[in-house]
Amino acid sequence: MAALLWMVVFLLAPFLSNAADPDPLLDFCIADLNSSPTFANFPCKPTSSVTSEDFFFDGLMKEGNTSNMFGSKVTPGNVLTFPALNMLGLSMNRLDIAPNGLNPPHTHPRSTESGVVISGKVLVGFVTTGNVFYSKVLVPGQMFVIPRGLVHFEKNVGDNKAVIITAFNSQNPGVVVVPTTLFDAQPSIPDDVLAQTFQIDSSVVHEIESKF
Ligand SMILES: *[C@@H]1O[C@H](CO)[C@@H](O)[C@H](O)[C@H]1NC(C)=O
Repeated sequence: MAALLWMVVFLLAPFLSNAADPDPLLDFCIADLNSSPTFANFPCKPTSSVTSEDFFFDGLMKEGNTSNMFGSKVTPGNVLTFPALNMLGLSMNRLDIAPNGLNPPHTHPRSTESGVVISGKVLVGFVTTGNVFYSKVLVPGQMFVIPRGLVHFEKNVGDNKAVIITAFNSQNPGVVVVPTTLFDAQPSIPDDVLAQTFQIDSSVVHEIESKF
């Protein structure tokens, strides 16, 4: 009897080791205890109304408008813009950066990122949890990886427009943009918290906040 029990435990072991909750797909999800649990982020469109068009997305063909304070634009190809990615655990973005433009320091809380430079010359860098900065200037065809959750940026250091295509192991990787998270939250983080964080005067906090 004991031997049989151990055999069952042994056979189930690979499944038991995978029994943890799936990674989150959203920042939060207040449970609706009256509905049925689902593995999908969104309920599914009926199969009878699915067409070929559902599985193709033109969104990344179009150049992003970089006329903004950072001179860069992310065009997302995630589950919200390309619904066929629902439940499939991956997505891609297009990043356009004007000469001297910057995709400012940010993290993707739910995903590792890989990318390839399509055109231009780009400085890609990230900082580890051990506070080590790794970076390299990349040209077309070169690829990079940003481990999940680490703060990183892309800066156009060439004379022409830059385009990067990025890929994520999440259908909705999420983004925390460091400057806007700290200085443009609604409602805002108390001034004294930011002044103390950066060891600066509140007037400097106001000056930074006024830029956003
Ligand atoms: C790009 O964005 C700027 C600022 O929002 C806007 O004035 C301009 O018309 C846009 N250009 C195009 C081609 O959409």
